[in-house]
Amino acid sequence: MSITLLFSVLLCAAPLRPALGAPAVDVSSRVESLLGKMTLEEKFGQLQQLDGDAGGDARPEHFELAKKGLLGSTLNVRGAKRVNELQRAAVEHSRLGIPILFAFDVIHGYRTVFPVPLAEAASWDASAVERAAAVAAAEAYAAGVRWTFAPMVDVARDPRWGRIVEGSGEDPFLGAVMARARVRGFQGPRLGDPGRVAACAKHWAAYGAAVAGRDYNTVDVSERTLREVYFPPFRASAEEGVASFMSAFNALNGIPASADRWILTDVLRGEWGFDGLVVSDYTSVQELIAHGFARDGAEAARLALSAGVDMEMVSRLYNEHGPGLMESGGLSQQALDEAVRRVLRLKFRLGLFERPYADEQAEAGVLLSTEHAAAARDMAVRSMVLLKNDGSLLPLGDDRRTIAVVGPLADDRAAPMGSWTGDGRVEDVVTILEGIRARAGARRVLHAQGCGVSDPAAGGIDEAVAAARQADVVIAVVGEDAAMSGEAASRSTLDLPGRQLDLLKALHATGKPLAVVLLNGRPLILNWLDENVPALLEAWFPGGQAGTAVADVLFGDANPGGRLPVTFPRALGQVPIYYAHKNTGRPPSENKYSSKYLDVPVTPLYPFGYGLSYTRFRLAELRLSARSIRPDGRLRVSVDVENTGPRPGDEVVQLYIRDATASAVRPVRELRGWERLSLAPGERRRVEFELTPEHLGALDGALRFGVEPGEFQVFVGSSSVGGLESSFEVVAY
Ligand code: BGC
Repeated sequence: MSITLLFSVLLCAAPLRPALGAPAVDVSSRVESLLGKMTLEEKFGQLQQLDGDAGGDARPEHFELAKKGLLGSTLNVRGAKRVNELQRAAVEHSRLGIPILFAFDVIHGYRTVFPVPLAEAASWDASAVERAAAVAAAEAYAAGVRWTFAPMVDVARDPRWGRIVEGSGEDPFLGAVMARARVRGFQGPRLGDPGRVAACAKHWAAYGAAVAGRDYNTVDVSERTLREVYFPPFRASAEEGVASFMSAFNALNGIPASADRWILTDVLRGEWGFDGLVVSDYTSVQELIAHGFARDGAEAARLALSAGVDMEMVSRLYNEHGPGLMESGGLSQQALDEAVRRVLRLKFRLGLFERPYADEQAEAGVLLSTEHAAAARDMAVRSMVLLKNDGSLLPLGDDRRTIAVVGPLADDRAAPMGSWTGDGRVEDVVTILEGIRARAGARRVLHAQGCGVSDPAAGGIDEAVAAARQADVVIAVVGEDAAMSGEAASRSTLDLPGRQLDLLKALHATGKPLAVVLLNGRPLILNWLDENVPALLEAWFPGGQAGTAVADVLFGDANPGGRLPVTFPRALGQVPIYYAHKNTGRPPSENKYSSKYLDVPVTPLYPFGYGLSYTRFRLAELRLSARSIRPDGRLRVSVDVENTGPRPGDEVVQLYIRDATASAVRPVRELRGWERLSLAPGERRRVEFELTPEHLGALDGALRFGVEPGEFQVFVGSSSVGGLESSFEVVAY
């Protein structure tokens, strides 16, 4: 069907939520009055963000600059006392007393470390994710931080890229829901509410599409794919009122993102109406030179600032060259003032002028509180995905068997915290061995490391085998260490590193029942495990409560209900592999001349949306409220879900659509809704979804958004594969 009926209004349907912490008029007049008093140097000073020490200390230079009113913001400086000391220099000793905005990467927790964002996304539980962000905000606020560089909302479809761990996986719809939840959690109902911090959607844009998964690398994607896949979580963040955006390191279709006027100004401000702050990524302004885009520092400053980067992180080209550029006419007064306005506006909205200082007495009582630890444990349990379970071993329950807990990550304190540890401390972490010991009670728990994570030596494997032989059941904890995921942590294979697979094979050869717990920040190739071990639990990097949460799940005190937010391939050569692919003219079939591989199936090992439970669920009676709707109409989709197994558990009912024929090729499936619900054994409930024009619309050939007439298929299931099917028509007026 090529007739296109477009509702271009939908493109700008949802108005942006004003992220106001004070009346707009008031903020704007205060900004203008302050701006009127500022010298050129003071204006550039507000656009400068400098890096504190990794441990949280300010640098001596910060105090000098602050007193002169030349330091707009810092990152990493944290802790109520340290923040207050530096803040005092700005507020009490500078000419205009403009407070400093203290930023920090509070990605999955501040002192209480939560599961990594990819894991949290695997919970498919937006309220739990919002709560996790709110806890992180409360702790960060107590420590004087007022701005977090999160959420990271980059869609990522290449698990070689280490930063896949920081986002919500491969899907724009899941990513958008999680982005909204995090923005709400960090910022709360109003920017400037005590206990909340300003959020930052990063890395704008398409940083996750780096060629071959190499960090910082080139991105070439069509405008269609940008708008359909990479933009939605950013757009959702803007709609949710996110206070800031961060410009990415990568070049996008030939233009470095940190100097790309199209994304920074035309799309972000022009199309989306975003009036918040844009900060560069770490030295990304200076890196315009290495990209071969700017000749020198002055040109880099001019290009970035005039494209729409308001604040420069760490490099100092705005300050070094800004005044000269103003004099030579390279930068306009208007561009400078607009950037300064955005910085001041955020400071006013945050209430920084009224409350510049942190409460040094309150800090200790907030950090790592019992409630926060409980929330982290709950989040970790919700994040875990049971990849395989033949029922012979898990859940362990309360028998009296001896347990051998082996593997390089069994007693590791760093890996569970993942790549962004905030202000987390290894001594706060409950290791998996400790968690199992605490839960095992009178049972004997043996331990051996077996091998290192990436160590080529197989030295300790015999010891682990000996422990396994003395035990009735074996729990092996393997995966990646923390440094293998995150920034600058791309990998060229997705195999278990080092000798870990040899360790598992040796343990398997003992004939003892073996359950494997995986700690990792990306999809791994798990074919041997899938074929050979009876139970496989994806625990990701579960945070400080790793041990308690893993024990909750292994012993059956909690029933795992997480689902994969990203496809697990069978082979690295399948990458990029994602469920929302397009059909091609030759979909995979028996025919040789179809789109597939000679040497590996085209399907993944574990698809997007997949995850098992200790109980079973049945979906039935898929019903649509109509057989046809108008393009601006709505449709209700409902289904019965029943727990047919022996235990209470959580099912994640997922709704996918396919626009069967359209004026531009659509994916074979697109997630459009889900519900995670807990059901008692035998309990049956009806789940209802509503499909709106926003769910059904897509970009047409001319990149305008609308709902096209024709057939739509509907799939409701427990993953992106299979499920119940139906269809309806969209009929033109
Ligand atoms: C990362 C950002 C981070 C920033 C500040 C950069 O290297 O790309 O995600 O927010 O550093 O730490």
